[in-house]
Amino acid sequence: MLELNRIYHGDCLNLLKNIKESSIDLILSDIPYGISYDKWDVIHSNTNSSLLGHSEAQLKAGKIFKNRGKPLNGWSESDKKIPQEYYNWCLQWAGDWFNVLKPGASVFVFAGRRMTHRCISALEDKGFIFKDMIAWNKTKAPHRAQRISCVFDRREDTYNSQKWEGWKVGNLRPIFEPILWLMKPYKVGGTIADNLIDNELGAWNEEILAKYGQLPNNLISISSNKNDTGLHPTQKPLSLMELLIELTTKPNQIVLDPFCGSGTTLLAAKNLDRKFIGIEKEKEYYDIASSRIISKDSISNNIQNELFKNL
Ligand SMILES: C[S@@+](CC[C@H](N)C(=O)[O-])C[C@H]1O[C@@H](n2cnc3c(N)ncnc32)[C@H](O)[C@@H]1O
Repeated sequence: MLELNRIYHGDCLNLLKNIKESSIDLILSDIPYGISYDKWDVIHSNTNSSLLGHSEAQLKAGKIFKNRGKPLNGWSESDKKIPQEYYNWCLQWAGDWFNVLKPGASVFVFAGRRMTHRCISALEDKGFIFKDMIAWNKTKAPHRAQRISCVFDRREDTYNSQKWEGWKVGNLRPIFEPILWLMKPYKVGGTIADNLIDNELGAWNEEILAKYGQLPNNLISISSNKNDTGLHPTQKPLSLMELLIELTTKPNQIVLDPFCGSGTTLLAAKNLDRKFIGIEKEKEYYDIASSRIISKDSISNNIQNELFKNL
């Protein structure tokens, strides 16, 4: 069985089986979005080279295209299979999430805008209730929609350049990210009030939203500050994770993050006197998460030296 207040280096698809049934009070996880953002984010068998920024054109263009997924054009059958493969991947862990949570426990999952619907369906199909979708307003986001008139200018097509002046291709600025909020159903015939008495789960704390300067709306505006960057390419703001933990749990309850990256969820849980379990597959991020979480006084000097040596 996995121990509390520890981070495990490994594949959560296996390790989740070693968590006691109905023992966890909250799963808060920023899962791979399945958009080929990085090698750990490839959740499909499509081998098109441009999906990881390795096509000839992307290599020539340099760093700017490094992590950019290929635009979806629906030309190839394997492109069309990507969302289905993502759904099947979600099914591989959604049932384990259901088993390890207590009745009335919440799940907050960052699943990206493009694949969110597949993640919700997989969690629903394994028994969860989909409560709501919170919009996290990041307040800042890079934006690269191209002006189509520039393309016509390069073709020396003045007629179309003028005709399409002001028009762009690509997306609007991606200023929000969805945070999916699901719940494990409580006992048949019971009420939320009964479940609060039995499991201390099922409600949310309005005062916490005020503490973080938010209204009781399903729109949360929190920016990343300088301490929220540099450890992981998709690092989330610590205060956002703290808000979500405090919203639905009390001190000493247990928070699980099976895709913990640099350990932001776990650090937030620790700061708030919650217990935690984290799992991370990539050694690089496991080491970073460990160094953020394990306080120097809680481990022996030898282990400490080993742990911090390569960071
Ligand atoms: C979106 S990132 C999480 C970043 C995190 N929110 C942070 O603030 O650092 C998802 C992480 O899941 C890890 N991962 C992917 N598949 C995994 C698996 N099967 N088991 C455990 N970790 C996995 C990736 O290596 C990646 O670091």
